Amino acid sequence: MSDTPNQGAAPEPAEEVEWARPMINIEGAVKSFDGRVVVDIDELTLGEHPIEGLIGPNGAGKTTLLRMIMHSITLDRGTITLFAPDGSANGVDVLSKQRTPAIARLGVVKTNQVIQDFERLTILDSMLLSLAKASDERANQIYRENGLYDEHAGEIRNYLDYFEIDDADGFALSAGEKKLLDIIRCLLLHPKVLLLDEPTAGLPIEMRDRVMDLVKEKATTENISVVIVEHDLNVIWAVSDHVHFMAEGSVILQGGPDYIREHETVIEKYLGSGHVGR
Ligand SMILES: Nc1ncnc2c1ncn2[C@@H]1O[C@H](COP(=O)(O)OP(=O)(O)O)[C@@H](O)[C@H]1O
Ligand SMILES: [Mg+2]
Repeated sequence: MSDTPNQGAAPEPAEEVEWARPMINIEGAVKSFDGRVVVDIDELTLGEHPIEGLIGPNGAGKTTLLRMIMHSITLDRGTITLFAPDGSANGVDVLSKQRTPAIARLGVVKTNQVIQDFERLTILDSMLLSLAKASDERANQIYRENGLYDEHAGEIRNYLDYFEIDDADGFALSAGEKKLLDIIRCLLLHPKVLLLDEPTAGLPIEMRDRVMDLVKEKATTENISVVIVEHDLNVIWAVSDHVHFMAEGSVILQGGPDYIREHETVIEKYLGSGHVGR
């Protein structure tokens, strides 16, 4: 008899991937600009935890990675796959969907680090536009008469109240209001995976806390997987269940917030550089 117990036996089944949550799997994803590689991810899964932080020095490739997921830029190579436990997506190749609105319809949405130009649409129309895109209606049909507002009025009102936006017929003027509007627009789409690129930059602390409370609630009660890029590490340490540390285009370390916060590589490459606090 052999002393290697598994000899001849069927190989161990690959460990079942637990996917209670919507997840994004990224494999062999590379992006370069002008011949310089800025993102090079071998293998990365986002969404195994309700709220995941994505941190790293300026220029590490965080925004580029999120834009690759949304296919708002094309990849040099690689695959990006969505898994959603509600049965709506079991290994859907996100990138083959090509356009960002189609990816949003699959449930993957992103706020923008650089705020969008909301100056020509009122706050309310801007919200309706996000909904209209989601349901693929024509842009010239988005306004109030088409029932979109009636359909979503309660929800829209709740967000406006929650963020104390008094005049939805006015324009989002401050950087903070634009940030909030961007977040609300994403939430109105009922995403499965919500990618937040510096969502609280420029917001007063009270609003920052309100955004984070809302995000936490969505992540836990609605099972949305949230990925948050944020330079304010106090936010990251406070809300993240898991943190990915990115440097020079790759995720080089992952773990719980305390682990990442104390890790010497993170301290050396990021926290110790003087421009961010621990
Ligand atoms: N559209 C672009 N054209 C050329 N270079 C870009 C473009 N977008 C990003 N980069 C470069 O890619 C690198 C990563 O940028 P980015 O993803 O914005 O980093 P992060 O969000 O981590 O600060 C930076 O060096 C940046 O200058
Ligand atoms: Mg960025």
